[in-house]
Amino acid sequence: MAVHDNRLIEGDCIELMPGLPAGIADCIFADPPYNLQLEAELWRPNMTKVDAVDDHWDRFGGRASANPHDSFEAYDRFTEKWLSAARHVLSDSGTIWVIGTYHNIYRVGRIMMDLGYWILNDVLWIKTNPMPNFRGVRFTNAHETLLWAKKSKSQKRYTFNHHSMKRYNSGKQMRSDWELPLCTGAERLTVNGEKAHTTQKPEALLERVIVSSTRVGDLVLDPFFGTGTTGAVARRLGRRWIGLEQEKRYVELARNRIEAVEPMPNEWLKAHTQDPPAPPRVPFKRLLEEGLLQEGDRLTHVRLGVEATVHDDGSISVDGMRGSIHQVGAQVAGTPSCNGWRQWTCTCRDKGSVVLLDELRKAVRGGDGSAQT
Ligand SMILES: C[S@@+](CC[C@H](N)C(=O)[O-])C[C@H]1O[C@@H](n2cnc3c(N)ncnc32)[C@H](O)[C@@H]1O
Repeated sequence: MAVHDNRLIEGDCIELMPGLPAGIADCIFADPPYNLQLEAELWRPNMTKVDAVDDHWDRFGGRASANPHDSFEAYDRFTEKWLSAARHVLSDSGTIWVIGTYHNIYRVGRIMMDLGYWILNDVLWIKTNPMPNFRGVRFTNAHETLLWAKKSKSQKRYTFNHHSMKRYNSGKQMRSDWELPLCTGAERLTVNGEKAHTTQKPEALLERVIVSSTRVGDLVLDPFFGTGTTGAVARRLGRRWIGLEQEKRYVELARNRIEAVEPMPNEWLKAHTQDPPAPPRVPFKRLLEEGLLQEGDRLTHVRLGVEATVHDDGSISVDGMRGSIHQVGAQVAGTPSCNGWRQWTCTCRDKGSVVLLDELRKAVRGGDGSAQT
């Protein structure tokens, strides 16, 4: 276990992140202050007081009654600082999640894009038991938004467990609207009968975040750890974690909470909370090396019937065009790109049957002698 694994560090994440090893996090989940700017106490019609988010850590630019633009400016500076520091700790194949509401998420999203993050999805957490708008002057605010982004547009690799996520949608492709209840009941941490934290997130939400975008053993970093929901779920799901939190009272709470979590069996986690690894890459030239094709063999375009000639350097040609199976396939069809494995057929040497190149690729991957077609 590396020195930073499964550690909760007390302090300001903007100061702490630059001191952590570069690229240490496979995934970041951030639930920053929302800058809600509540101006007055909230009361229900039965005159009980609403436990609203009026914590000092959610205030920016002075009193809530001050000019809102001062607050926006202060919040933007804060957001830019922590999102910049997060780029240092996020691995080049990692992704970041940031959750927020209409109060802050548009500002956060713009700053993320300006810093070079590339948004993959905005996921809606639709609350099945939202707090009503007691005065009835606007709609019930029944959702929060999670922005999911990679580090840059050009980043090729990142984890998305497409198959594992189908489990959350009756076996069908998982959607970007997640219906989940607020964190209530036994899961909600309390101190002397009162909520221990105003914005504790439900574990079911973090489970989806972690299962979708990490593999067993990956490291998840949360710069705004609060009660440690991210750490508790990461531990249960066999992922490593780092939590940063500036308030001592939450640090203690989170430590005790995470210690009590029992990790699930590793074999089960590997089978159910991550997709199987991608099959090994097979260059087209391997088919010649394996004796499945030879120089001069003819391929036929599955849709257009155009014929191509195979060359011993792994290229193919049609009239004057020469290149990979993908390049020539795209030129012949007049499309911007093409998966040549699924566009060209050949005749099997021994059986004489016509098969897609993909069948030969599967035989090579099989590696069990089935490469003899
Ligand atoms: C919205 S809450 C996170 C709640 C958490 N997701 C949970 O489930 O308990 C934001 C947390 O960030 C902490 N915080 C605010 N600014 C911070 C900073 N600059 N560095 C570290 N923690 C900070 C606050 O103390 C608060 O606990």
